[in-house]
Amino acid sequence: MKILVTGGAGFIGGNFVQYMVNKYPEDQIINLDALTYAGNLETLKSVEDKPNYKFVKGDIADREFIMDLFEKERPDVVVNFAAESHVDRSIEDPDIFVKTNVLGTTTLLDASVKYGVKRYHQVSTDEVYGDLPLDRPDLFFTEKTPLHTSSPYSSAKAAADLFVQAYHRTYGLPTTISRCSNNYGPYHFPEKLIPLIISRALNDETIPVYGTGENVRDWLHVHDHCTAIDLIIRNGKVGEVYNVGGHNERTNLEVVKTVLKALDKPESLITYVTDRKGHDMRYAIDPTKLERELGWEPEYTFDTGIPQTIQWYLDNKEWWENIISGEYQNYFKEMYVDKGRAEE
Ligand code: NAD
Ligand code: DAU
Repeated sequence: MKILVTGGAGFIGGNFVQYMVNKYPEDQIINLDALTYAGNLETLKSVEDKPNYKFVKGDIADREFIMDLFEKERPDVVVNFAAESHVDRSIEDPDIFVKTNVLGTTTLLDASVKYGVKRYHQVSTDEVYGDLPLDRPDLFFTEKTPLHTSSPYSSAKAAADLFVQAYHRTYGLPTTISRCSNNYGPYHFPEKLIPLIISRALNDETIPVYGTGENVRDWLHVHDHCTAIDLIIRNGKVGEVYNVGGHNERTNLEVVKTVLKALDKPESLITYVTDRKGHDMRYAIDPTKLERELGWEPEYTFDTGIPQTIQWYLDNKEWWENIISGEYQNYFKEMYVDKGRAEE
């Protein structure tokens, strides 16, 4: 089987490519990535010389390039991770989110229809469901929860999901969609909460907490997201949506305190900063369908996954120090300090 993975130089795509290349030596894995600020080939070092792995640089929204690639490679399966993924960036500059997340997806869908792809899988997010109130812990997102987005990021992801469903119904493209909760784990870019806490705490820098820190996220180790997608592309029912999550809800403040404690760093590093615009209060996934229909079970809980992740960041300082010493250096200043949200 030939599997085209897009966005495989990013956080989750990179973990997925490594997982698939090692687990299925008989399958061909093609990693297509534009290498934006979030793409990093260092993540793929362990598989770059494997005979069943190939990297191609390119933009999923570049129609001519994509059609040529499909003509040449004729993939059996497409797994689309490629996206602009950071909510804060989408608030600053929505355009690129529309281009990559919507136009990029429809370009891949067109190529998949034209070249008879046997399975197109869209990696989506629980953010398409909007948010839940803090005072209703009994409520969870199911696959039937209406789409109700908050940020330009989640709106672009929801638009892409609707196109995927339209291509299934209108053109009969065999599609599946997964909607996962917040991931964490190795190779997570340090602009996102957990790697930001780890990298800044290790340097004894302040930890910016948006608003009151009461917002709740439902954390899943990236390995468990990879096993879920693998199951869905092999055994998932065409035309279906599957929610992915492991019931690991934590407030942001709980997450920050847990990581600081594990690193033996003081809570005095916590700095409350101006809230994110339109900040979603709570995400919480009901993964019953995936568990019952496909037998998926997560390997990690938050309590086992966090120490594993911290250890990875301690053992792989070079990977993230290269990022924070490069172009990313200006990011914290532009997004936090220049906007008066935090001090240098
Ligand atoms: P990421 O930002 O770490 O990686 C995105 C990758 O896509 C990068 O390698 C980047 O170079 C590539 N890319 C961006 N634009 C591209 C383009 N036009 N053409 C080709 N490649 C391009 O993102 P991530 O956190 O790994 O998320 C991957 C996917 O999973 C996204 O679709 C995201 O919406 C979804 N998702 C993420 C989470 C999470 O917690 N991170 C949770 C649920 C779903
Ligand atoms: O739920 C899935 C989504 O999870 C994915 O679709 C997105 O691609 C991914 O980025 C993530 O979105 P979040 O906005 O939830 O993740 P982020 O790490 O940016 O923030 C997590 C929470 O922490 C959120 O409530 C905002 C808060 N936060 C974040 C940063 C970066 C802070 O308090 N301080 C910070 O500096």
